[in-house]
Order: sequence, then structure tokens, then C-alpha cells
Amino acid sequence: MRLILLGAPGAGKGTQAGFIKDKFNIPQISTGDMLRAAVKEGTQLGLAAKKIMDEGGLVSDDIIIGLVKDRLKQPDCANGYLFDGFPRTIPQADAMKEAGVAIDYVLEIDVPDSAIIERMSGRRVHPASGRTYHVKFNPPKTEGKDDVTGEELIQRDDDKEETVRKRLSVYHDQTEVLVDYYNKWAASGQPGAPKYRKIAGVGPVEQIRDSAFAALQD
Ligand code: AP5
Ligand code: ZN
Repeated sequence: MRLILLGAPGAGKGTQAGFIKDKFNIPQISTGDMLRAAVKEGTQLGLAAKKIMDEGGLVSDDIIIGLVKDRLKQPDCANGYLFDGFPRTIPQADAMKEAGVAIDYVLEIDVPDSAIIERMSGRRVHPASGRTYHVKFNPPKTEGKDDVTGEELIQRDDDKEETVRKRLSVYHDQTEVLVDYYNKWAASGQPGAPKYRKIAGVGPVEQIRDSAFAALQD
């Protein structure tokens, strides 16, 4: 299984990626998680990315494309992969097409902007694994602690309301065009064209998981 999860910030890509990667036994390639790891390590990339991420902008296409191409060389990608938060621009999507990176499905998770701010403000994450919770909608078993390791959960620096609004506008300006891009490719009937599936992203997490699994079956 090789798929792209497409959706606005806070649509639930990371949450659903957790279920999908386990079901298909594939790695989750989250460019956001990779950048946050670089920030934590204090690498040159991390230092440059931090400012852009905190402002809600996009890191340059060349950097992101390089990161993903390197990641795809790892042996765990042989069985498939799940892209979460990538591609985010037409040049990123074109670069994957040109490199012959196969995609079976593009799965769009649709959530209206009005639901996003509340989701972001209550989000808590376990940085080491990328596991994601919400204080109200998807709480951990013990407040403030990761279910698996018991380690502290944190709030992301870019989950401030002002930054979330900026990220949403960047999504509409630069990423939403990919809905059309992949729909057209899917409809083209060209060899290697992916299937395009869209699911509603509002409702209980498990209900959305079941819609996602069903969408990836046909
Ligand atoms: P990234 O980490 O990719 O952030 P994002 O796309 O903005 O998406 P989020 O991680 O915020 O949301 P999500 O859809 O994963 O939702 P989640 O499951 O966590 O990118 C961060 C930054 O890195 C970017 O702004 C950019 O600067 C840079 N970057 C990354 N990739 C890049 C690229 N390719 N090119 C350039 N720059 C790049 O859920 C959100 C919350 O809602 C959680 O609390 C969750 O528990 C809760 N929730 C989930 N499902 C439900 C539900 N059904 N009902 C209620 N609550 C729910
Ligand atoms: Zn995410």
C-alpha cells in the first residue's frame, strides 16, 4: 500500500495515519514530524525550519523533496509507505511523479475550517513517536502522559491560534490545488494513476478510521 493523506492542518492526518500504518504495516512519512525531529536535534535544517514553522509558512520545496527522497531509500519503504503532510505544493507533487514514486491511493480527509481551531488548541503530542491526542476528543488514559510510554505530552509551538489561522490560509493558497491535481490524474486512466478517495473527517475518530479503511479497499 502506497498512499498520500491529504487534508488541512488539523484534519486528522496524523491520527488516521496511526491506524493505517498499523493495518498495512507501512512506515508513516510525516514531513512535519521529520522537521520537528530536526528542530529538536538542533541541526542546521532544524534551525532554519523552526522559524518558518512557527510562522505557519512552508519550508522550501528543495529541502522537503530531498528529505523525502532520502527517506524512501530506507529498507522499510519496500512494502509501501504513507505520506502525511506531503506533498504540499505542486512542485513537491511533480517531483514525486518525475521520480516515479508509485502512489496507489490519495485519501482526502475533509474537515471544515470552523472545526480546526478547537482541535488544534486541545492537541497534545508525544514527540518521540508522533502519537497525537486531544484533551477533549481523544484524551490519553492518564492526563498529560503518552498511553504507550507514559512519557510527558507536549503542545506544539505552532498550535497558537494566530499561527493556526496562517497555516489554514497557506493550505488554501498552496496545498488545496492538489485536490484538483490528483483528481485529474486519477480520472486520466493513465497507467500508474492513483485512485482518489475523499472521506468526511468530522465525527468520532474510530468512525473516520472505518471510513478510511473502507475507502482503501475498493
Ligand atoms: P505538519 O506537521 O504536517 O502539520 P499540518 O499539516 O498543519 O497538520 P497537523 O499535524 O497540524 O494536523 P493533522 O492533520 O495531522 O491532525 P492531527 O491528527 O494531529 O506540518 C507542520 C509544519 O511543518 C508546516 O506548517 C510547515 O511549516 C512544515 N512542513 C511540513 N511538511 C511540509 C511540506 N511537505 N512542505 C513544506 N513545509 C512543510 O489532529 C489534530 C487534533 O485534532 C489532535 O488533537 C487530534 O487528537 C484531534 N482530532 C483528530 N481527529 C479528530 C476527530 N475526528 N474529532 C475531533 N478531534 C480530532
Ligand atoms: Zn500531523
